[in-house]
Amino acid sequence: EKDGHDWFMRKEIFEQPRAVADSLLGRHTRGGQLQLDEMRLSDQELRDIDKIIIIAAGTSFYAGMVAKYAIEHWCRVPVEVELSSEFRYRDPILDYSTLVVAISQSGETADTLQAIRHARLQRSKVLAICNTNGSTIPRESDAVIYTHAGPEIGVASTKGFLTQLVACYLLALYLAQVKGTRYGDEIALVMEQLEAMPAHISSVLDAAPEIYDLAREHVGTRSVLYLGRHAGYPVALEGALKLKELAYLHAEGFAAGELKHGPIALVEEGLPVLCVVPPRGRDQLHDKMISGIQEVRARGAYTICLAEEGDEAITPYADHVIRLPRVPVLLQPLVAVVPLQLFACELATAMGHDVDQPRNLAKSVTVE
Ligand code: F6R
Repeated sequence: EKDGHDWFMRKEIFEQPRAVADSLLGRHTRGGQLQLDEMRLSDQELRDIDKIIIIAAGTSFYAGMVAKYAIEHWCRVPVEVELSSEFRYRDPILDYSTLVVAISQSGETADTLQAIRHARLQRSKVLAICNTNGSTIPRESDAVIYTHAGPEIGVASTKGFLTQLVACYLLALYLAQVKGTRYGDEIALVMEQLEAMPAHISSVLDAAPEIYDLAREHVGTRSVLYLGRHAGYPVALEGALKLKELAYLHAEGFAAGELKHGPIALVEEGLPVLCVVPPRGRDQLHDKMISGIQEVRARGAYTICLAEEGDEAITPYADHVIRLPRVPVLLQPLVAVVPLQLFACELATAMGHDVDQPRNLAKSVTVE
């Protein structure tokens, strides 16, 4: 049942190329049009949307953070991302022109369910991104995009997260198509890039033995930091969450630009810092990230850099480099999170922990 793996989690990590491919299946542009079959909101209703609020918890919240970058970039609609547990209590500004997107792997998370009930009472439209057919959250929503990860058994979300990202990109492209903010050929290009992702994820998985060695070298560490920028920032947060959940270690993710505003004080000799390096591009993201890495290394950090193939600028500042395929920055989370999942899984295993059933955690949290 675990396909020869020691943990369901490890099996699910290795299922990600297929899960991503399945989540893209049937969405192909037919005659240049992107299809989302479970979309029960009319094009006119979508055109009337002037604000999007994404609500989710835990790992699903980090998928929502990535979605904000994609939707705002492709659709030019303002997006807020809010923790489900905080949403209702701040008296959010909602009306019929607000689209609330609820992201939940299980479809049963109580905080998220209460949040969509609140949104619907304010006449907002609710779209669910969910992995569980017929669960409560999609049943109570106006529209659903189902992810096709298959059942996720490991308590820590892995393939659930990757397929949520895919659903978020599809939603963003669909909105761009309906609102006319992107042309068909641009949408088709991103779809092609998405369709190349399963092969890219497989190539990252091929490097698993190297990541396992790295993880085992860090058994005994008390703390690990994760740095990212742009779409790599939620990846850093997700990497840190995986390590907390599985290895019971102090792990924190930061936006690299925030380092100098406080967190750099945490850096001490030998502290492992995992850095998600943005692809080299026309903007300054990549160079800014490198100066952040330089800063922590100058203070004694052991820097582990996740950087694209061919990026040699990081070499002088990296104690260890994990290579990522060359993909656009918005899609990079799909490949960058995978080494972080493998790292957490292996470190926790080496520490003797039960990776599938971490202490104090449940797969679906049905109490508020
Ligand atoms: C992390 C994890 C949790 C869930 C969170 C939301 O590995 O599994 O943080 O992501 O409880 O769950 P869903 O997506 O089912 O609403």
